[in-house]
Amino acid sequence: MVVMQHGKVVETGRAADVLRAPKHEYTKSLVAAAPGLGRTVVRERHFVDESDAPLLELEDVHKTYRIRRGETLDAVGGVSLHIHKGETYALVGESGSGKTTTARVALQLEPATSGRVRFGGVDVTGARGEAARELHRRFQLVHQSPFASLNPLRTIGQTIAEPLREFSVVAPKQRDARVAELLDSVALPPEFASRRPEQLSGGQRQRVAIARALASEPECIVLDEAVSALDVSVQAQVLDLLARLQRETGVAYLFITHDLGVVRELADRVGVLRQGQMVETGYTTEVLDHPTEAYTRALVQAIPGTNLNVAGASQLTGANESND
Ligand SMILES: Nc1ncnc2c1ncn2[C@@H]1O[C@H](COP(=O)(O)OP(=O)(O)OP(=O)(O)O)[C@@H](O)[C@H]1O
Ligand SMILES: [Mg+2]
Repeated sequence: MVVMQHGKVVETGRAADVLRAPKHEYTKSLVAAAPGLGRTVVRERHFVDESDAPLLELEDVHKTYRIRRGETLDAVGGVSLHIHKGETYALVGESGSGKTTTARVALQLEPATSGRVRFGGVDVTGARGEAARELHRRFQLVHQSPFASLNPLRTIGQTIAEPLREFSVVAPKQRDARVAELLDSVALPPEFASRRPEQLSGGQRQRVAIARALASEPECIVLDEAVSALDVSVQAQVLDLLARLQRETGVAYLFITHDLGVVRELADRVGVLRQGQMVETGYTTEVLDHPTEAYTRALVQAIPGTNLNVAGASQLTGANESND
């Protein structure tokens, strides 16, 4: 393993040794920030009023795609879930299991083949026009790919200001100040408002996408692999930001990821999707500590750091002994 910072190698060694006992300050900070390795923050069970009606409710949602003549694919095959105000619900599962499709149907960006979607107690299934507009003010998406979601011709400031204008969140005179505040909330300096997406790193773009999603002051945000592409130290920063915003505003998150280390840290409840079916759902700690499905167990086994801590432990001890 070789660790680089500012274009120079700062540390090198056997991966297990470096991860166990990092010597350089930068390596130490990386290991400390990696979910499942150094960063084993477990989500504090915070108060979610489950007696209230759910904010978002999916009831037996199906989405069937026609692939070619006479051939269909059940991308989502009867998914039900609900999310309360102020809650984080993680949707996990392997690539192609239907996570993004479920979110797109929830947001009414794609029509469900069957099933109902309710938001704020109102049936929004098939919402169009003003009803869809109102839904998108209250329910936002951070796209899986920030490269695709930011308009390359617009400045960052214009991109973030768009929902402010569209939904008349603040008076026109206050827009610039609000853009600066939103940039600040994702730890970006105000000068970024005049830059274009191509002048930003991937992690910075992702934070812009999050700032934009926050602009309309939504009650729920879908974060579709929103932190997966970030290096662990920026990821930790964004996760902290999301947790803080939730404490301050009561926003709910539908958090899509295949990183169960992040799920453990952030989510109150988790649903495991496989081939468009919800195979397991419950409180995060219960599902991750006592998975009932073999599929969930396999996902838990794949959490980074799990092997280092469990399976690799004896091997490591052996190696250290022979070195002494
Ligand atoms: N527009 C479409 N037309 C046909 N099939 C589609 C379409 N969109 C998605 N699919 C298929 O539906 C299934 C679910 O896709 P989806 O994007 O929801 O997966 P995912 O769980 O988000 O995966 P990933 O982790 O890779 O993002 C996949 O098999 C995919 O190929
Ligand atoms: Mg996806």
